Formats: sequence, structure tokens, C-alpha cells
Amino acid sequence: MSEEADADDDEAATESEDPAETEAEERVEEETETQDVEADAASDGPVPVGVKLGSTRTVIAIPEESGDVRIIRTLTCLATYDDPLTGEEQVLYGEEAATQYPDRVQFMLRSGLPEDDDRAELTKKFFNTVLEENDVPEDSVVVYAIPTIENERGLDNLEAVIQESAIGQRTVESYPESLCGAIPAMGDGLEAIGEIFVSVNMGSTNLEAAAYRRGEQLNPFATGAVTGNEVDRMIANNVEGETQGRVNIDTTTAREYKEQHADFVDFEPFTDIIQQPGGGAHEFTIERSVMDACNQYLDDAVDEIANSFLPELANDHIKVYQLALDQPIVLTGGMACIPGIVDEFENRLSEELNRDVEAVAADNPDLGASVGAQRIADHLIGN
Ligand SMILES: Nc1ncnc2c1ncn2[C@@H]1O[C@H](COP(=O)(O)OP(=O)(O)OP(=O)(O)O)[C@@H](O)[C@H]1O
Ligand SMILES: [Mg+2]
Repeated sequence: MSEEADADDDEAATESEDPAETEAEERVEEETETQDVEADAASDGPVPVGVKLGSTRTVIAIPEESGDVRIIRTLTCLATYDDPLTGEEQVLYGEEAATQYPDRVQFMLRSGLPEDDDRAELTKKFFNTVLEENDVPEDSVVVYAIPTIENERGLDNLEAVIQESAIGQRTVESYPESLCGAIPAMGDGLEAIGEIFVSVNMGSTNLEAAAYRRGEQLNPFATGAVTGNEVDRMIANNVEGETQGRVNIDTTTAREYKEQHADFVDFEPFTDIIQQPGGGAHEFTIERSVMDACNQYLDDAVDEIANSFLPELANDHIKVYQLALDQPIVLTGGMACIPGIVDEFENRLSEELNRDVEAVAADNPDLGASVGAQRIADHLIGN
């Protein structure tokens, strides 16, 4: 059931309704997309590159000479094997590694950051392979997005991965993921850096929130209790219940169900088939499992924002709280891709707070952090 991952990933990345969006050239790996985003790529100076190394996916944004921004989007995983002729270690990453080597593929950022030396080494191997195979320019200014997690070791390891890579020979800087992700949601340039607003990042291992005042982060908040990974686990459990125990799916399949079918506006029941151990196939229909999990996720997210994050913000910075709630709240991260989630978040949060709040997201919230980081890098070169 997981072999469709490739096609689905591409689909997810191309779903933008921007008619100017074009397919990447053929030499570019199939997980790579070209997005039509404004950028000034000076042909001879350093190139501004945006990077997000996430626990599920890594996204890199690079301007092309045409002015478009090329997006490399890949699962953050690798598998190695020894070349039978040379004996040399070969590295595979992304969908290819996950599909061809399910027995030994490693998702080294499962917890969100490279926690220890081993995982830092694996992350370097992964990142350098992605850079090499996609010709990411070495003469570059790199801005990378960092999660709002108090984990000094993990953040230091992440920094080492980027600093010690071939790219970013001019400069390497980091900015918070929820700020980078808000940039493409708030305009075509860097408007977000001049505003006062709240950003909520809906990732695989964390729900993060912060207020931003002209780029300054206030009241950073993170919880590992409301996550995309937890939704996947809930879906897997729900499927077992919904099929009276006849169907067991792994969390990768659950994630694929979520990414392909979750929809707060018009969810359609779907069918899938499993091969039974004794031979023969069993077809089943999923009606509730996916959206029950997504509804639970959204209720929990709204609860954390309304009853944990916002009260603390109001307590510490009442003026900023008032100004920020008069602006749309920006939703970023992969879970914000679910159709209708922005309006539904807005409704449920307004109800919980007993006042009207608005919410917005970029066209592709899962790519937002790297697109925003790339714009910051572009600005740094300009200065
Ligand atoms: N189109 C989609 N529909 C539904 N869910 C999606 C979609 N795209 C990505 N996701 C989900 O979003 C989550 C990944 O989000 P994101 O890439 O922002 O996380 P991350 O930065 O890797 O994680 P974290 O910051 O928590 O470490 C995963 O749970 C993934 O399944
Ligand atoms: Mg993240």
C-alpha cells in the first residue's frame, strides 16, 4: 500500500493552483518541483538558498536563472548498501530509500532534531547526498529554519550539519521555522518581518506557536502532545476498529491516507485492498478513521492555543496579544496542508475564545519555511 508514496508526494507538491507553476526540467529528480516565486538570482554572485530539515521531509528552495524558485522536497531518510563491484558504500535517500529498503531505512530526525552524534553523522550523510544529487550551489548564502524546541544539543547538531556541508560558503544563518513559514503566507516579499502576529506551526513531532513583533519572537510555545505523527497513530488504530480488526496498517500507510484523503470540506470515503497472508485480497472502505483523527487533532491544537499559549502571551504582553489577535493567525507546517483546516481552525478558535479571529496559510504550507528562509537569504545578499 505504500508504493504509491512517490506519486502522491509529487502530487502534494504540485497542488498549488498557481497556473504559472511549471514542472521541473527532466534532469531534476522527480521529487523536485519548480515553483514560480519571485527571486533575484544574480548570475555571478552567491545564490540565496533556503533549507528546512524536518523530521518527515526536507525542503530546499533555490532560485534559478529564470527567476523561479526550484523546490527540492524529499523524505528525510536514508539507506546505505555496498556496491557489489567496488565495495564502496552507496547512499540512497528519500522515497527511493523508503520504498526499496523498508527493512533498513533510517529516519534520523524522527524526534525532530539530530539528538546524538550518530544521528548527526547520518543527517550529514543524508544532507550532503541530497545537495550533491541536486546540484545545490556551494557559493551560496544559506538560511535554515529551526524548530522552537529547547534542545541545545539537537540545535547544535543541526547547525553542524548545515555549517559543515558544502553549501553556504558565504554565510549560514538560522531563523525560527514558524517565522520563515509565515513569510509566504503574508505577502510576496518579507512583509511578515515588519508585522505583529501569531504563528502556529503544525508539524510531525510538534505543535509550535509564537508571537512575532517585527521579527522578534515572543512567548515561544511547543508541545509534543499534538502532532502529525500522533494523527497517523490514531488513524492506524481507528482503521483497526472501523474494520472490526480485519485490517492493520502501519503508520506510513496511515500518513499516506491522511495526506491523500484528509479534507475538512468534502472528505470522501475511500477503499483500499490488503493482501491476506493465506492468499487472496481483502477490500475495505474507510469512512471515519481519517477524519475522526484529524478532528481530534484540530480540537487539541485549538485547545493548546486557546488555553495554554494565548493566556501566557496575554499575561506577558497584553498589548501585543491584542494587536496580534486583530491580525490573521498564520498556520504553517505540513498539517496546515489539509484542505479546509484554516477555516475550521478559525471557527473553532473563535468559538473557544468567544471572539472572532482570522487565520491564513501560504499556498503550500509544507514548503513555506524553506520558501521564507530563501527570501531572507536573498535579502541578506542584497545587504
Ligand atoms: N498534504 C498534506 N496533507 C496532510 N498532511 C500533510 C500533508 N503534507 C504534509 N503533511 C503532514 O505534515 C506533517 C509534516 O509537517 P512538517 O513538514 O511541517 O513537519 P516537520 O517540520 O518535519 O516536523 P516537526 O517540526 O514537528 O519536527 C506530517 O505529519 C505530514 O504527514
Ligand atoms: Mg517543523
